[in-house]
Amino acid sequence: MATLEEKLIAPVAEEETVPNNKTTVGVGQVDMACAISVLGKSLVDELALVDVLEDKLKGEMMHLQHGSLCFQTPNIMADKDYSVISNSKTVVVTAGVLQQEGESRLNLVQRNINVFKCIISQLVKYSPDSTIIEVSSPVDILTYVTRELSGLPKHHVIGSGCNNLNSARFCCHVAEKVGIHPRSCRGWIWGEHGNSSVSGWSGVHVEGFLSRN
Ligand SMILES: NC(=O)c1ccc[n+]([C@@H]2O[C@H](COP(=O)([O-])OP(=O)(O)OC[C@H]3O[C@@H](n4cnc5c(N)ncnc54)[C@H](O)[C@@H]3O)[C@@H](O)[C@H]2O)c1
Repeated sequence: MATLEEKLIAPVAEEETVPNNKTTVGVGQVDMACAISVLGKSLVDELALVDVLEDKLKGEMMHLQHGSLCFQTPNIMADKDYSVISNSKTVVVTAGVLQQEGESRLNLVQRNINVFKCIISQLVKYSPDSTIIEVSSPVDILTYVTRELSGLPKHHVIGSGCNNLNSARFCCHVAEKVGIHPRSCRGWIWGEHGNSSVSGWSGVHVEGFLSRN
């Protein structure tokens, strides 16, 4: 039997549904870019922010909540306590010490491993079935460290290194040079995300044409 509301209000378009997909980020620069991206594409129904910076947590949470008019994600929460991330499906890890000018990414390893020992155990405690997207530098090594510390299956720990960022930059530069949109260019940067990476020129496709160089 139809309710009064159903009798009075006839739907004119199908209701959009947001996937049941809690995601966690911090409040750094990369975190906020990730947050805006997932919110803008309505990929998550809950967004949790966790970080060591209490004031920034509160500020960024309020910014995102106040922008909710433009987003479909109903729940945006933040806390220093890792329980806020409970049952996340995806967790983006950007935490760690920052590279100083002239310092190589590899120099950061030991300092960041110490940070990771604390955060990865908390992360797995509260979100044992999550997939971790590792971003912190040096990303390839820290992805391996995260895998070891977390005990999660290999396919649940993904590093954002050459495959993503550098390859995207590569395509962007090639596209700029030949005057096309970057999406019409395919190409890859291989190796470790750092000074030793290699550009795969022989595999570059520009609008479907394979480079002969
Ligand atoms: N892999 C890539 O493609 C890629 C791209 C850009 C940046 N990075 C790396 O990502 C990392 C983040 O860069 P960013 O520019 O966003 O830096 P950022 O300083 O803006 O953000 C880092 C965040 O981590 C937090 N943090 C630090 N220690 C913490 C701890 N113990 N527990 C919880 N949170 C902690 C900080 O408070 C900060 O909010 C850096 O290591 C950077 O080199 C990687």
